[in-house]
Amino acid sequence: MQVLVTGAAGFIGYSLCNVLVKKNNFKVIGIDKINSKKKSIFNDRLNILKKNKNFKYKKINICNYKDLKKVFRSNHFTFVINLAAEAGVRNSIENPDSFIKTNLVGFCNILKLSKEMNTPHLIFASSSSVYGEAKKYPTSENTNTDNPISFYASTKKSNELIAYSYSKMFNMQITGLRFFTVYGPYGRPDMAIFKFFRNILNKKEIILFGGGKHIRDFTYIEDVVEDIMSIILNKKVLLKKFNIYNIGGGSTTSVNQIVKMIEKITKTKSKIIYDKKQNGDVDKTYCNNNKFVKEFRRKKYTSINDGLLLFFKWYKDYFN
Ligand SMILES: NC(=O)c1ccc[n+]([C@@H]2O[C@H](COP(=O)([O-])OP(=O)(O)OC[C@H]3O[C@@H](n4cnc5c(N)ncnc54)[C@H](O)[C@@H]3O)[C@@H](O)[C@H]2O)c1
Repeated sequence: MQVLVTGAAGFIGYSLCNVLVKKNNFKVIGIDKINSKKKSIFNDRLNILKKNKNFKYKKINICNYKDLKKVFRSNHFTFVINLAAEAGVRNSIENPDSFIKTNLVGFCNILKLSKEMNTPHLIFASSSSVYGEAKKYPTSENTNTDNPISFYASTKKSNELIAYSYSKMFNMQITGLRFFTVYGPYGRPDMAIFKFFRNILNKKEIILFGGGKHIRDFTYIEDVVEDIMSIILNKKVLLKKFNIYNIGGGSTTSVNQIVKMIEKITKTKSKIIYDKKQNGDVDKTYCNNNKFVKEFRRKKYTSINDGLLLFFKWYKDYFN
């Protein structure tokens, strides 16, 4: 089976490809816009993947329709998994143009080509940010998503709407995944848990916005990959043409609690600078994962404490 994964040099893309390539029946084409040869976590991830004969990397920007078309035309993908995106709430406020290009134009290129090539199943990354400031928690797939409070969130909400209409118009099998704050080995250096470990261990200050009171449903990467794999391997998802799933652990931790846990794990005191709440940041995310758990008989998700310990173990190996 041939699988196209976009954003393959990214955190979730890499982690998914790394599991897919170890299954003998999957041949993975990973695309990303990353090309630099200089040392970066993107290239470190790609170098691991390139060691496996089931993985092929192509440097392609999903906004480039012509290049993308060549890849679609020269392969027969059973699954197209679109994880390429400009991510990050704050970036989307400062640099909306790149979000328009990748998250909207690039996403539509993927949709158009999946339709043209009759791709059996398109899976794409949405985000818990579509829930905005919800009235009730935990949020389920039925919770209202009409009030995203950042531009990033509205691009993800737009993806869901456009994908829904494509699925209806052209009878396409499409699944959207609302990920909740994913963390773990080979994670994103711009995200809170990675930054906190790095700065605390290097005795540098950490900045806590909004008094560190934000609450997040932090979800361990291996759980996310396991969920995506269940969707790929299980035919149940095909019963409905268009599906949306929350992908999250279903428990919450405040940023202040995370800092305390990291201090304990690293046996190092943090130096905290408090700053005001950032524009576009929601106070809370909390995943109701009942739909996924029920449909896929999903067992326990990794606790935040275990996940942080696993991250710390990886972090020490990676930087030593
Ligand atoms: N990590 C999370 O907590 C989280 C939460 C909710 C949703 N998501 C979504 O999941 C997906 C993966 O997230 P991630 O954390 O792995 O992010 P990431 O930034 O690590 O990975 C995204 C990858 O996409 C690539 N990319 C960006 N624009 C591209 C383009 N135009 N063409 C080709 N490649 C391009 C980047 O180079 C990067 O390697 C994204 O769609 C993101 O919005 C992530």
